Amino acid sequence: MSGSLVIDNIGRLITNDIQLGRGATGQLVDAWVVVTDGLIDSVGTGRTPPADERIDAHGCCVLPGFVDSHSHLVFAGDRADEFAARMAGRPYEAGGIRTTVAATRAASDDQLLARATQLLAEARRSGTTTIEIKSGYGLTAADEARTLTVARRLSDETTFLGAHVVPPEFDGRTDDYVDLVCGDMLAACAPHSRWIDAFCERGAFDVDQSRAVLQAGRSAGLGLRLHANQLGHGPGVQLAVELGCASADHCTYLSDDDVAALAGSDTVATFLPATDFSTRQPYPNARRLLDAGGIAALASNCNPGSSYTTAMPFCIALAVRDMNMTIDEAVWSATAGGAAALRRDDIGTLAAGRRADLIILNTANPIDFVYRPGVHLVATTLIGGSIV
Ligand code: NIG
Repeated sequence: MSGSLVIDNIGRLITNDIQLGRGATGQLVDAWVVVTDGLIDSVGTGRTPPADERIDAHGCCVLPGFVDSHSHLVFAGDRADEFAARMAGRPYEAGGIRTTVAATRAASDDQLLARATQLLAEARRSGTTTIEIKSGYGLTAADEARTLTVARRLSDETTFLGAHVVPPEFDGRTDDYVDLVCGDMLAACAPHSRWIDAFCERGAFDVDQSRAVLQAGRSAGLGLRLHANQLGHGPGVQLAVELGCASADHCTYLSDDDVAALAGSDTVATFLPATDFSTRQPYPNARRLLDAGGIAALASNCNPGSSYTTAMPFCIALAVRDMNMTIDEAVWSATAGGAAALRRDDIGTLAAGRRADLIILNTANPIDFVYRPGVHLVATTLIGGSIV
């Protein structure tokens, strides 16, 4: 938008800036926010400053937009049958990814873009203002590159995940596939990616293969992230810390050494509780990490296999209900924590000079994300000061 906008009559403003307000999320009461040219100009309390336009928050809560730092939004088909079987007792297996690979390879770019656009609109309605999008359902150089080209149309935060699983044509030849990922596939995908990622897990890639992929990505100028410790204890978290990854994602199984390593680093532990919900895995105890001084993010992991939701409020509800986070910690992790996981300082906080990405709730109290689960609480989402 051009000109200035003021949002006033805010019952509770969560800034995530401890210089600006009270508590760990920098909260103000009876507050206003002034936006100019898409950026926060100022925040304060008391008399509303003049502006060209005004939005009345009706005494409700305003907070930074959700920063969803882990999604697999570009895919075709669904896996509802696999989900139903899981609800009947079958365990989640990484091999199900191949079902979505086959459907994605068969889909046109237009079909992939149309589905991802629908999912993005759904995410926006529940308050997501930034979303990271991974590839990983193409697994040929051409299919990974076109997946990332589609993703780039929707977000600057794109991640090359050629090392998602070994595709069927490379059965028994994992090292050859890793060579492809580190060579021609990376060359085709790096121009469309900000990040590189690997699935370091039994049934996917081992620690040496994952290290090789991330190091090749770093040499190509990409930032590093890692799927770690999703299905069991393993070396993923330690590898993520060793390589200085921005984020270790999943962290469902954390040993004491993993917690200590994360807490002694600036690698963010990105928890994906909707995945643990959908795969019927135990929830991680985020308290251990937070009490040790680690940084946590919450993300949706939207994908058709292990977590088919875009709803960050649902992730907050699970984190408070089942992971021992306070509501303030969960809201921080879904906003500022996500920004930290993406190494971004322009989003996730409502302070002068930051992007005016924010949401206006239809309730004064964010505990309602947990207390009133499944209820639509996001009245308005603004990105760069414009309603979306
Ligand atoms: O993050 N862990 C690897 N990738 C996805 C699973 C994707 C799928 O099952 O299709 C995840 O859970």
